[in-house]
Amino acid sequence: MFDHAVLEARLQRIAPALSAALGDSLLLVHAGLPVPLPENTDQTYPFLAHSEYVYLTGLECAGGIVAFDPLASGSSAWQSFVPELTESERIWEGRSQCPGTLLPHLTDWLQQRSSRPVVHLGAPPADRPADPARLAAIREVLKHLRRPKDAAEVALVRRAAACTGAGYAALRAHLRPGVTERALQIEMEAAFCRAGATGTGYGSIVGSGPNAAVLHFDPSHRILQQGEFVLVDAGARVDRYVCDVTRTYVVGAAPTPFQRDLHQLVLEVEETAIARCRPGAEWKDLHLQAAVQIASGLIHLGLMRGRAEDLVEREAHTLFFPHGLGHLVGLGVRDASGTAPGRTKDPRPSLRTLRTDLPLAEGYVITVEPGIYFIPTLLEDPARRERFADCVHWDRADALIGTGGVRIEDNLLITSGAPEILTAAIPKTP
Ligand code: GLY
Ligand code: MN
Ligand code: MN
Repeated sequence: MFDHAVLEARLQRIAPALSAALGDSLLLVHAGLPVPLPENTDQTYPFLAHSEYVYLTGLECAGGIVAFDPLASGSSAWQSFVPELTESERIWEGRSQCPGTLLPHLTDWLQQRSSRPVVHLGAPPADRPADPARLAAIREVLKHLRRPKDAAEVALVRRAAACTGAGYAALRAHLRPGVTERALQIEMEAAFCRAGATGTGYGSIVGSGPNAAVLHFDPSHRILQQGEFVLVDAGARVDRYVCDVTRTYVVGAAPTPFQRDLHQLVLEVEETAIARCRPGAEWKDLHLQAAVQIASGLIHLGLMRGRAEDLVEREAHTLFFPHGLGHLVGLGVRDASGTAPGRTKDPRPSLRTLRTDLPLAEGYVITVEPGIYFIPTLLEDPARRERFADCVHWDRADALIGTGGVRIEDNLLITSGAPEILTAAIPKTP
């Protein structure tokens, strides 16, 4: 996945900050082990090494452990221990030996440092002693160090973006009334793989009609009807690097004026937010600005009423936009997201749905994904209807239940200037 020079540079870059956090503690980062399927079977769930381990080693080595001694200097501070391949693994799985020092030598490595505490990250066996607060603190440091992507990581995301584009092109070629969500998923995912993808970045979402209002909808055998929305949220994976892209189409017909206006509103919110993605920009500010723009647009469309800023302060926007503006992406679909070091959850109700809270920095790869949906669970909830009685033209909102929703999502690389839209080649016309 990464060549030696890339890994060496990465480990040297992160060593000083990790050392400062660890003091004299040792760090062991575990790949984890395959999980057997239930019942008497020799099968396991598909194995993916913990992303902390993949970042440090570029390996998918089950049982591997990378060790870091913050008191050692240079490349000798890091050592990668790997299990010896068994004959059974050679015969049944055709695997080859992972590169590294064989695992029994980890005992010597630890014995030479026997007085020192150990912090375990990645996916350690459950019996390892852990101080949860210390573990969380070190994990936060490593997570923050992983946020700016190096050139080798960005290259993998670019490849994932190209494969994702091929998948969307195939899906569009098959998009017509009469096909099922599942058929579209199959065509799209096959095209990802034909273009060179390792697989999908996450479970592909293809939701038609009312299903477009289910944020993480699993494609079904529902047949697409002419003139309804279909929302597709999917991304290819290359090695372990993924894209996370959403487009919303109208099936086999020109959009109605309302569909066009709704799609246009979401697109404008996305474009406005993208233009604000500069180093130093606070993600929660971008989220709030997007929420105000959505509320304002919904006032214009005759769905909400009041002052947009007030609606957002009262979190009325979450009736239609119930998720965050985006998250970091790359080594997995939620790569190193969360809060900046030292921050706790912002208590403002208007930010309740936002899980990413950090200033953007050069090298980050982030999604921007505004959406507007007509979700029965939210719109039919008596408590919300009472609380937001004066915020919504409820008769109009009720009439839209069943029509789904619109989300548009792209992946950006933050640069010193305007962001680079890595997924810009995937058309957005509804
Ligand atoms: N694909 C899930 C998301 O957009 O975060
Ligand atoms: Mn998505
Ligand atoms: Mn996303």
